[in-house]
Parts: sequence; C-alpha cells; structure tokens
Amino acid sequence: MTPRPWTTSFEIGHPVLDRQHKELLGMLDDLEGLMHGDDGEKAFATCKAFRTLMEKHFADEEDVLDQAGFPERGRHMEKHAQASEQMEKIFEGCGETCKHGNAGPCTETLTHHLLDHIIRDDLGFKSHLQTKKMAADRR
Ligand SMILES: [Fe+2]
Ligand SMILES: [Fe+2]
Repeated sequence: MTPRPWTTSFEIGHPVLDRQHKELLGMLDDLEGLMHGDDGEKAFATCKAFRTLMEKHFADEEDVLDQAGFPERGRHMEKHAQASEQMEKIFEGCGETCKHGNAGPCTETLTHHLLDHIIRDDLGFKSHLQTKKMAADRR
C-alpha cells in the first residue's frame, strides 16, 4: 500500500479549503487500506463519506471564489462539474464491490482526479487569494 502524504506544495493558503483537500486525500488513504482488509462495510462507508465531502468541498470552494471575486470562477465551476462527472462514473463502476474485499483501481483513479483538482486547477487561484489576503491585511 502506497501512502498518500500531504505536502506543503499542495497548499493554496486558505485554511478551510486546505483542510478539506487534506481530509479528502486522507480518506483515500484510509480507503486504500480498508480495501485490503476485511471490513467491507467500513470501506464502503469511507467511499460514501469521500463522495459527500467532495461535493461539499466543490460548493464551499465556489463560495470562497465568489466572495474573493475570482474572475475565472465560471470556468473553474465547469472544471468542478467535469471532475464530479468523472468521479460519479468511478463510483458507479465500483458499485459496492469494496464491500466484498475487492480492491479495484478505484482509489488510484480517485486520487488522480483529486490531485488533478488540487494541483492543476486550484493552484490557479492561489495567487488571487494571496493577493486579496495581503490587501486585507494591509488595511
Ligand atoms: Fe479544491
Ligand atoms: Fe477547485
């Protein structure tokens, strides 16, 4: 099992969003471990919790970007919608197989989508949030 360590290079400098990103990555790490164990119910529950937090995270992040007046918010929301769609396909494909100790490629693929969301998409608004924060701190 390969651990999924959090590194500071993933941070975008917003406490709530960073905490959620970190928690989401941790959930996939837990899920990977559970899928090789014998508690299928717990694996399935962890997968469901990941799905719920991912949705909440997208909504929370869109609120943050709205409040910060991020000019490319619309495009970013489209990326969230695409990522949601791709993840939903994975959840549908996996179904309840993890309940039966079946370690499929789900966590690997979900990790890829999550890291893509953080590194490729979210780091794109890091500079915007940092600039806003600096301006607010100066006031
Ligand atoms: Fe995010
Ligand atoms: Fe995002």
